[in-house]
Amino acid sequence: MHPLEPLFNPQSVAIIGASHHEGKIGNIVVHNIIASGYKGEIYLINPKRGKILGLPVYKSIDDIPSVDVAIVVVPAKIAVEMADKVASKAKYIIVITSGFSEIGNMDMEQKLVESARKHGSRILGPNVFGIFSSKAPINATFGPAEIKKGNIGVISQSGALGIAMIGKAAEDNLGLSAIVSIGNKADLSEVEILSYLFQDELTKVIFMYIEGLENGHEFMEIVKKKPEEKKIIALKAGRSRAGARAVASHTGSLAGSDEIFDAAFRQAGILRADSLEDAFNWVATIAASPPPKGENVVIITNGGGLGVVAADACEKYGLKLYDDMEMLQKIFEDVMPEFGSYKNPVDLTGQAGAREYELALRRAFENDAIHAILALYCERGDAELESLMNTLIRVHKEYEGKKPALYALFGGEGTTKIVTEMKKNRIPAFYEVEDAVSSLHALYKAYEKRDEEKIEDIEMDDDAIRKIIDAAINEGRSRLLSHEAKEILLHAGLDVPPFRLARNIDEAIEYANEIGYPVAMKVVSEDIIHKTDVGGVVLNVENDEEAIDAYELIMKNCHMHARRARIEGIEITKMLPPGTETIVGATTDASFGKVLMFGLGGIYVEVLKDVSFRIAPISKKEAEKMVREIDSYPILAGIRGEKRKDINAIIDSIYRIGILVNKFGEISELDINPLIVYEKGAKVVDARIIIKVKK
Ligand code: ACO
Repeated sequence: MHPLEPLFNPQSVAIIGASHHEGKIGNIVVHNIIASGYKGEIYLINPKRGKILGLPVYKSIDDIPSVDVAIVVVPAKIAVEMADKVASKAKYIIVITSGFSEIGNMDMEQKLVESARKHGSRILGPNVFGIFSSKAPINATFGPAEIKKGNIGVISQSGALGIAMIGKAAEDNLGLSAIVSIGNKADLSEVEILSYLFQDELTKVIFMYIEGLENGHEFMEIVKKKPEEKKIIALKAGRSRAGARAVASHTGSLAGSDEIFDAAFRQAGILRADSLEDAFNWVATIAASPPPKGENVVIITNGGGLGVVAADACEKYGLKLYDDMEMLQKIFEDVMPEFGSYKNPVDLTGQAGAREYELALRRAFENDAIHAILALYCERGDAELESLMNTLIRVHKEYEGKKPALYALFGGEGTTKIVTEMKKNRIPAFYEVEDAVSSLHALYKAYEKRDEEKIEDIEMDDDAIRKIIDAAINEGRSRLLSHEAKEILLHAGLDVPPFRLARNIDEAIEYANEIGYPVAMKVVSEDIIHKTDVGGVVLNVENDEEAIDAYELIMKNCHMHARRARIEGIEITKMLPPGTETIVGATTDASFGKVLMFGLGGIYVEVLKDVSFRIAPISKKEAEKMVREIDSYPILAGIRGEKRKDINAIIDSIYRIGILVNKFGEISELDINPLIVYEKGAKVVDARIIIKVKK
């Protein structure tokens, strides 16, 4: 039995602060519990005693036996005073009361948690609207009394929005398996609620409204355990960037909290909606549709224009329109007027009415070459709408579960009525073509096969890496010098071309000869971040003479433009032939931990922002997805006669960085910029590593 079973399926509940006054929260909760047909014991507590909604009222919590759930609806101060007593009587405490950490009253919230811990009970909230669970059934919320049962589980961080969602779900006739308000998350968070819903046989689709995640790491761990058949759609509020986070790397500055959420959701197979409208459309579609058995989508329409709009949207979302003309002709032969078109979108033309739609839908449902149906209708202003509505509903119901079928009806009052009626029948119907296509896309995404996560440890010279990090920590240096960063990467198994640190001209010449001309020479200083800006870099040094000139020039420039900088020396590296510059990086997020980044590199990376993120560590498959995800991927895959770059070498580099930063938690930021990629191999040219030094 899941530990949260008593919360979702309580045998007994107590309402602390049950109110005699209609309209007050403590009264509505009691009313809703009774109205939901709850079969367990109900204990109402209020010092005034008497009766509330026909139930006896106990003077004190001392007067009742232990319960599975206590619902607290007394003001915050009283809630804190009673916390110990309540915790001694209840396994789960739902604190509806507001006035805790959300307004800065941390101590009061802490007191609730401490009391619960002392007695081994758990808290949902405070500052929540309650819980509805269709299993019990119980509606212990102060939202609408009537909540339809179904297969959608909702977790909402916002109370007001959660209540509004109940209303919207009712309007769209969406059935809920559970709705849980998590509020301030003083104790229970979305992580535990998800773990319950994952094993709850009544829940198929989970809709989460998230404002922030404090425990991103645990969240990732739990979503990895999501059963394949359960689907999650999330609406994350606030697309704003990370704000004033102090970062010293490209990766850090590009990895805003929103990008990280995006990455986490993508990695976890969670569909992220941009708006409440999208979220509801997707949830409704996934809840009501079977999985598509293949990629062939057919559009049936009575208007060419609407068909084109849908076809364009399908292209935008990457949906495949079935294009076997011969088969399409065979399938729709007996429905199509002479002047109709078999070419998908299948255009039944403006004269098509209920009869034609019935036939066309039957053909599409019955033929196995078609895997999903998108039926569109443009209002013609005729009297046939009623029979069209009945037909669409009847035919859909007849074939329900066979394959996904979505509908978009465009027009005035008549089509609005049809859509409303179809929604009432839990059929995915929309007013806008784009909404239907986006929902079909979400359905396909939801059933996309997820790769098995395989993260194997790889051999690295851990001792050598540890030595470099410890030396810097001992010296109180957080910014590793270029050669130290490169040494770490070398020990981690990346391809780092030969490099040496020259501390004088003689060494510069010696190392340049050892490495072999042409070489690149770069200043090494903890105080100089942008070496080129101060004239600290000379490329293509061909011989000893040029090496001497370069050495002197770099020193002169640095003394002039970065007078106070402590210069360690000049790094001599092999001058590499041109290739494609990419960036591989890592940063640390307060919630999710280590985050990896990949993109096309060079100096424009922060302008173009063509980068992808993942939470580390990742599998090689995931690293490959990161590479394919950037817009400039075709440049790597080879365009206009250029050869394909060594994508496996990039994947290997990202994979190794993922393992490196996870193993050595002190590495807070890391940039390889550029990692130059060739037809064969990928080489580290410049590297930057920041470590966390405890003060
Ligand atoms: N034990 C039990 N009952 C008690 C006790 C006690 N020790 N002391 C008082 N009560 C009774 C009161 O007599 C009263 O009953 P009555 O109406 O029969 O007289 C009842 O408990 C409630 O107490 P009130 O002082 O009347 O408190 P009120 O109902 O005004 O407010 C509430 C309590 C609703 C918990 C309020 O403090 C609160 O937090 N409101 C906000 C709730 C909220 O919005 N939560 C977030 C939800 S999410 C969202 O944003 C929608």
